[in-house]
Amino acid sequence: MSAPPLRVALLGCGTVGAAVARLLAERSELLADRAGRPLHLSGIVVRNLSGPRDLPAEQAGLLTDEPGALVDGADVVIELMGGIEPARELLLRAMRGGADVVTANKQLIARHGDELHAVAREHGVGLDYEAAVVAAVPVLRVVRESLAGDEITSISGIVNGSTNYVLDLVARTGVTFEEAVAKAGALGYLEADPTEDLEGIDAAAKIVILARTAWGVGVGFDDVHRTGISGLTDADFEQARGTGQVIKLIASAWRSGQARHPRVELAVRPVLLAQDHPFAQIREGGNAVVIEATSAGRVRIHGAGAGGEETASAVLGDLVALARRRPAQA
Ligand SMILES: NC(=O)c1ccc[n+]([C@@H]2O[C@H](COP(=O)([O-])OP(=O)(O)OC[C@H]3O[C@@H](n4cnc5c(N)ncnc54)[C@H](OP(=O)(O)O)[C@@H]3O)[C@@H](O)[C@H]2O)c1
Repeated sequence: MSAPPLRVALLGCGTVGAAVARLLAERSELLADRAGRPLHLSGIVVRNLSGPRDLPAEQAGLLTDEPGALVDGADVVIELMGGIEPARELLLRAMRGGADVVTANKQLIARHGDELHAVAREHGVGLDYEAAVVAAVPVLRVVRESLAGDEITSISGIVNGSTNYVLDLVARTGVTFEEAVAKAGALGYLEADPTEDLEGIDAAAKIVILARTAWGVGVGFDDVHRTGISGLTDADFEQARGTGQVIKLIASAWRSGQARHPRVELAVRPVLLAQDHPFAQIREGGNAVVIEATSAGRVRIHGAGAGGEETASAVLGDLVALARRRPAQA
């Protein structure tokens, strides 16, 4: 292999970042074969240098709390910090310096995707974020590439594993909603502040990104008719049980008007579904997406929508794809 190594800067070493770092070490030869050149991890940015880390020994010396120089010297920057700033500024800086970028940050892409894409286009660099929408489930690539020759008419699904865990637990074991939320929190399914999950904000970000990718429309958060699950009562679950149905939090986007001039509606809301509906079968933290397209018909994809290693799979997929697109001498 004669191409020079690709210098990869990793921003964040938490649940997902640590898994990416470990897999870069464990699969270095396989990934080099697939990418056509070695992938060299040049540094890992964290907030707290003295915190405990689940990293291979040879990577411990790569930790830094100064992202600037690392970003400036990278060919690819992987952002796994979360939040809007400094993630946004660092990705803009990376792209302006000629680096490709990969992120799993759905809030950043949903809120600042237009700006980031404009800078990526201006500087001729790649911006990929498969992991931002249902982690290991490769739905963005299907929408953007596999169905690029088709007319997508709707996308719907269970895109938030935490709320599905809560709803599934209530439906199958009969515990109260409060008990299910407490258990989901104790198992790490919910953030310390569970608002983003329970109020449907996380799901709204994902359906916004999917709609933009499918139809190229400039929709945002405010366009999503959003109802979370925090307002559900034990009576709602009783009623569902009594009628042989289950409650699921469904995110959906559908197109009206012509394919070239689409009007798009977006919603996130709890929906009553018959027990044998495909979404009703999704257990625990699982995710599932159904895409309807004029020629392809109904396409179903399901799998793990969260988890360190699962999300790292999508991040590494983007990294290898970007490495393949880069000129070998760069
Ligand atoms: N976890 C999942 O299952 C999952 C699934 C899909 C997408 N995602 C997305 O992936 C991203 C990362 O998630 P995560 O669960 O890995 O988060 P996490 O466990 O909280 O890790 C965040 C990492 O970023 C570092 N960091 C945060 N702010 C920083 C700052 N201002 N400067 C320097 N370092 C900073 C933290 O440093 P310290 O360690 O020093 O605090 C930590 O290492 C998020 O955008 C999330 O939405 C996560």
